[in-house]
Amino acid sequence: MEKTLFSGLRPSGRIHLGNYLGAIKNWVLMQETHHAIYSVVDLHGMTTPYDPSKRQEEIREVVIDYLAAGLDPDKCIIFVQSHVPEHVELAWILGSITPVSWLERVPTFKEKVEKHPDFVNLGLFSYPVLMAADILLYKAEEVPVGEDQVPHIELTRQIAKKFNTTFADLFPYPKPILSQGKRIMSLKHPDQKMSKTGDDGIALSDTPEEIKHKIKRAVTDTGDNTQTKSPGVANLFTLLAEFSKPSTFAEFQDAHNKGDLKYSDLKETLAKDIADYFAPFREKRAELLENPKKVDDILEKGTTEARRIAEKNMREIRKACGLR
Ligand code: TRP
Repeated sequence: MEKTLFSGLRPSGRIHLGNYLGAIKNWVLMQETHHAIYSVVDLHGMTTPYDPSKRQEEIREVVIDYLAAGLDPDKCIIFVQSHVPEHVELAWILGSITPVSWLERVPTFKEKVEKHPDFVNLGLFSYPVLMAADILLYKAEEVPVGEDQVPHIELTRQIAKKFNTTFADLFPYPKPILSQGKRIMSLKHPDQKMSKTGDDGIALSDTPEEIKHKIKRAVTDTGDNTQTKSPGVANLFTLLAEFSKPSTFAEFQDAHNKGDLKYSDLKETLAKDIADYFAPFREKRAELLENPKKVDDILEKGTTEARRIAEKNMREIRKACGLR
């Protein structure tokens, strides 16, 4: 039987190259071989500041990005997390058996506290418990995510074990599935990962002009070191390896070794190759934007399918905990 997988992204901006290479590209492949469930995790999105008047629009943008990137509603389940209330119920149950000390150790919590010191809420602290609930609600065994999410999946396994030994042996021990490539960094701050906000990242939906503009302004260096690459230049080469032909990559690598690489040439080629790579994506996206009914229908189907599984598993879970 096909293994179940679960993954999701928060609705905090359009999907960018880092999301694509770190996760979505794998999602598209895995829908062929797995019972795949993909969510827009809007409840997770509430744990950092956002504008409620824009949220519905943002959620929809991510759904459209999923579809345009190649997720196929006939091969996988696509739904919005808050449309399946069992996520919250299971999060409460799991929270009741999760020691506070486990959550204090989670690195993303510490990072977010630094980033939004005025927004350190309980939701942010218990974020990994809700994530564990997302995964375990469907008894998913595999979770394709970016590297930064690995500690959360490890915690999910710990929580599953705690549940299985406290109540009943219901949950599998899910494992993270990482994509092969290198991590994609911010174009402006290449020591940080590419983020969804600001213009340090390239969204899949960016126009060729926007891509060109952003790549042009990417941080490089003075270009006199032929031995090693600065983080910004290394990041551009990582992108080149993903989106350009191997021969193009080899050419630029060679020029770098010889010390006669012109960053302006590299940037121009890279911008064009990225823009070409995502041309079909932009087309599909435009089509979906013009057909809101189609997107509504896909979401309705996905919600129905997700709920069916969630309700069935939740009955079993409640019973194991002594609830009815
Ligand atoms: N924490 C993930 C992120 O920030 C999003 C997420 C929430 C998730 N629940 C999940 C990912 C369950 C995989 C499985 O990107």
